[in-house]
Amino acid sequence: MNIDGKAWRTIWLEEGGRSVGVIDQTLLPHRLSTRSLATLDEAAEAIATMVVRGAPLIGVTGAYGLMLALQADPGDASLAAAFEQLNATRPTAINLRWALERVRDRVAALPLVERAEAAAVEAAAIAEDDVAMCAAIGDHGLMLFQQLAAARPSERQGQPLNVLTHCNAGWLATVDWGTALAPIYKAHRAGLPIHVWVDETRPRNQGASLTAFELGREGVPHTVIVDNAGGHLMQHGLVDAVIVGTDRTTRSGDVCNKIGTYLKALAAHDNGVPFYVALPASTIDWSLCDGLAEIPIEARSATEVTHIQGLVAGGSASGEIATVQLPPEGSAGFNPAFDVTPARLVSALITERGVAPATEAGLQRLYGRVANGSEPAPAAEVNRQPHPDQAHQGQG
Ligand code: MRU
Repeated sequence: MNIDGKAWRTIWLEEGGRSVGVIDQTLLPHRLSTRSLATLDEAAEAIATMVVRGAPLIGVTGAYGLMLALQADPGDASLAAAFEQLNATRPTAINLRWALERVRDRVAALPLVERAEAAAVEAAAIAEDDVAMCAAIGDHGLMLFQQLAAARPSERQGQPLNVLTHCNAGWLATVDWGTALAPIYKAHRAGLPIHVWVDETRPRNQGASLTAFELGREGVPHTVIVDNAGGHLMQHGLVDAVIVGTDRTTRSGDVCNKIGTYLKALAAHDNGVPFYVALPASTIDWSLCDGLAEIPIEARSATEVTHIQGLVAGGSASGEIATVQLPPEGSAGFNPAFDVTPARLVSALITERGVAPATEAGLQRLYGRVANGSEPAPAAEVNRQPHPDQAHQGQG
């Protein structure tokens, strides 16, 4: 997608494939800065500290992390240790394990001299598949939005469709397009008037910082709200739909996403507002059925709750970014990073293969499989044609 008219992706190869470039998302929206990851440790650190974040992007970064590890040492022990190190960085998003397994399975039977190159090819394929899946999610979601817009009463025809989103499930969370934001971008480009309510998404404020940044750079009308405002807006008819991403979806349609998603689903349910979840195949954990009982919830540092980062007021000229403390010294903080929204609260899943009810039968119908252990559905069925806007990658 675009930043100031230039097409970007979130991750790219540098130095002939000896390092990996990424946008440092910890500094957005106030500073657009890139980082080069040249070693396994640097890739693992970038994921753990959320320089890169968002389930699909974590997966792609992990895949390139394995490539970097194999460039340094292609042996079996190195492969196994790198897999474990990367997989331990963030426990909730299943895309990470999915991508690591894809690279490991691709290279494990190869002679040592071929492994690093094969890992590079596979990681690049994972990245391209992600772009294609997200673009297809956008197309399916656009159709849903068009139906919603058309179904509104005559006095609301032509007015912007008001869509609420939580966290950042846009292009910064993927390689390009995003999951939940892909239908929004497609709608905007198709000329469907759309306005986005952006949950700030405490504690790390991915909504206020990343989603607002993305939407602004693409020219999509949006308004940042505090996390507590969504229910009120829904009660007053100001939200036509909620759309979010997911870090892990069980085969029964339970959805694990950024903390606070569940409360939005409850409010949507109570107010008859459709609650959509957008996801690629790589986010489905076919081995799990009960999301609440089975999905590991990442516990992050309490300092993310007790402290907040932003641009110093009146300091935009200097661009000074500062961190301040909110509660009094000594107050404890607790920081579960994700929650589980039960399938019964999800109106529909929007995938690269189409829209389905959040049920095991719905997912089976799309993916033609029951579960457990076998390979995720190949992305080959989605449109792999690059979007014309993607003439430039990375820093262009
Ligand atoms: O902790 P984060 O910022 O990695 O969490 C991101 C989310 O929760 C996204 O909604 C999710 O990864 C889906 S992204 C396409």
